[in-house]
Amino acid sequence: MTDTLPLSSLADALHRRRSVRAFTDRPVDPALLADVFATAQRAPSGGNLQPWQATVLTGEPWQAMKDAVAARIAMGREGQQAEYDIYPRGLTEPWDARRFGVGEALYASLGIPREDKRGRLAQFMHNYTGFGAPVMLFLHCSRIMGPPQWADMGMWLQSVMLLLVEQGLASCPQECWAMYGATVRATLGLGDDQILFSGLAIGYADEAAAVNQWPVPRADIEEAIDWRGFA
Ligand SMILES: Cc1cc2nc3c(=O)[nH]c(=O)nc-3n(C[C@H](O)[C@H](O)[C@H](O)COP(=O)(O)O)c2cc1C
Repeated sequence: MTDTLPLSSLADALHRRRSVRAFTDRPVDPALLADVFATAQRAPSGGNLQPWQATVLTGEPWQAMKDAVAARIAMGREGQQAEYDIYPRGLTEPWDARRFGVGEALYASLGIPREDKRGRLAQFMHNYTGFGAPVMLFLHCSRIMGPPQWADMGMWLQSVMLLLVEQGLASCPQECWAMYGATVRATLGLGDDQILFSGLAIGYADEAAAVNQWPVPRADIEEAIDWRGFA
């Protein structure tokens, strides 16, 4: 994910993108981001609603957000409601195993065993520093939007992530911010008519970090695609 590696295809960008959880402090040229967002506006959406709205922070506003959320976390979970159920309640198979599996692989890359609950929690809490990323994007939309428009937001998000790869940048989508959505929205000055979907940490990957190097598993294609009528 350095800017010296040329991309040869869209498939290349897809393979190269991964959720990066350690960034360098190299600042990001806003002109690169402006290019990415201009192109991502071409993302499709049902009825061309283009429901995505994003607020992008760096420098002092980003530090103020980290401080605000850290202060809220210190007060405990009481009275704090997530924006939405991040996972379905009572997640069943095969999805539960996939979720568990990726978590185990992540912690294994860092050498944090299952018994080390504190270590695992500390790693999870790095989420709220954006894993050291110099830029944080918050993706939100009008609260009136439903599942089809949330799917549109996902297409926009993936478009942004792939375009960032093309610019030599890395990212990590972060729905963990939705756990403190009210604090994030208040700090951004967004009204209650908006709902926070996800953060997106953006910056240059720390290529040497073990957390950025483990192979992220995927289910076999057969588990996703049901071919019918093909020879
Ligand atoms: C909408 C969305 C929200 C996510 N939220 C988080 C998050 O809060 N923290 C985190 O570490 N990873 C988060 N992830 C990253 C996923 O864990 C990751 O995409 C998945 O394990 C596949 O790994 P890959 O992105 O490296 O291919 C999120 C991904 C998506 C698409």
